[in-house]
Amino acid sequence: MKTQILPPTTENLQMVSEQIKNGSIGALPTETVYGLAGNLRNEQSILNIFQTKNRPSFDPLIVHTAYDPELNAKQVLYKLEDKNLINLNGFSSDALLKTENLIEAFWPGALTLIFPKGDEVSDLITSGLNTVALRMPKHPYFQEVLKRSQCEICAPSANRFGRISPTQSNHVLTELEGKIPWILDGGNCKIGIESTIVFINLTGEVQLLRPGAIEKEKIEEILNEPVVSSCSNIKSNKPLSPGTLKSHYAPKKPLFLFHSTSELSTQFDCNKKTAILFFQENDLEQFTQAHKEANLSCYQILTKNGEPAVAAKNLFASLRTLDESTAEILYAQTCPTNKGLEFAINDRLKRAAC
Ligand code: TXA
Ligand code: MG
Repeated sequence: MKTQILPPTTENLQMVSEQIKNGSIGALPTETVYGLAGNLRNEQSILNIFQTKNRPSFDPLIVHTAYDPELNAKQVLYKLEDKNLINLNGFSSDALLKTENLIEAFWPGALTLIFPKGDEVSDLITSGLNTVALRMPKHPYFQEVLKRSQCEICAPSANRFGRISPTQSNHVLTELEGKIPWILDGGNCKIGIESTIVFINLTGEVQLLRPGAIEKEKIEEILNEPVVSSCSNIKSNKPLSPGTLKSHYAPKKPLFLFHSTSELSTQFDCNKKTAILFFQENDLEQFTQAHKEANLSCYQILTKNGEPAVAAKNLFASLRTLDESTAEILYAQTCPTNKGLEFAINDRLKRAAC
């Protein structure tokens, strides 16, 4: 199969919408990362998504739903329940209120919520769990396809399982060339890091299952309470969100992390071909001052002036550039703090590292 990169013309948006409706799968841009999209109600599409990504069947998919500007959060929930996608029986008023507040604040956008699943969602999608992950993406092309296809769309990130998530159409091509018919080109993903996953249980207890594009602090601000992060145990291979395994987002070459350039100096071996990801320009300058002899195969800077949103946007593309360089060994600098987006970036780096 030849994989085509399609420009986002009206004809192509219509064509891919029809294809998804009829059971094909293909890659669509979202504001976070590219997704491998298929019709929720087409079992073969769902099987193809798992097979194409080489994704283990224990790792459930996120369901993407259309934005309707006419509906408020309560109406969005009723509509999802009406369609039998979620089941709100047993939700306490506290759980309902918190869910509505988060939807009001962050949908459409990069927040994924976990709900008790409705009968319309197959066990294949949820890997047998009795919950389903739902998100309403903001990307105009993804929204257009949801509207034109009139389908809910399942979409994991459009990379082979365990590999670096794609934030450009050519990344998807590198990952899945010959395995899917088309990639709808949306340019660079604006955010560059996946959605934040939040679980609110029936009684209203809130847990962060995956840090992501929406900062934990912003969620806490809306809920007016601290949120427990259940993903903090990075060494666990039995996380609450089955896909947040310890080894993920991984380059092909060994990757080691460092926090400060002085820490890097103690590890750095100038006899090996090395590529380094620095957090900001200052860090590169400090390192080259101390190691004038260093002969780097490649380096990348996440953000010139230390802006976390810029770092998030560049993260996966920079890791790819390092991986595709001639280096034998890769180093990446963690963010200076663990706050806001830096928490999510550090989470991805830790999972990418050896
Ligand atoms: O930003 C995103 O969320 C992107 C774009 C394409 O929407 N999608 C994405 O999908 O990151 P994926 O498949 O790469 O990651 C989905 C994560 C996995 O870690 C999976 O375990 C978790 O969501 N997940 C799905 N259903 C779940 C559930 N019912 N309970 C807990 N975690 C769930
Ligand atoms: Mg993924």
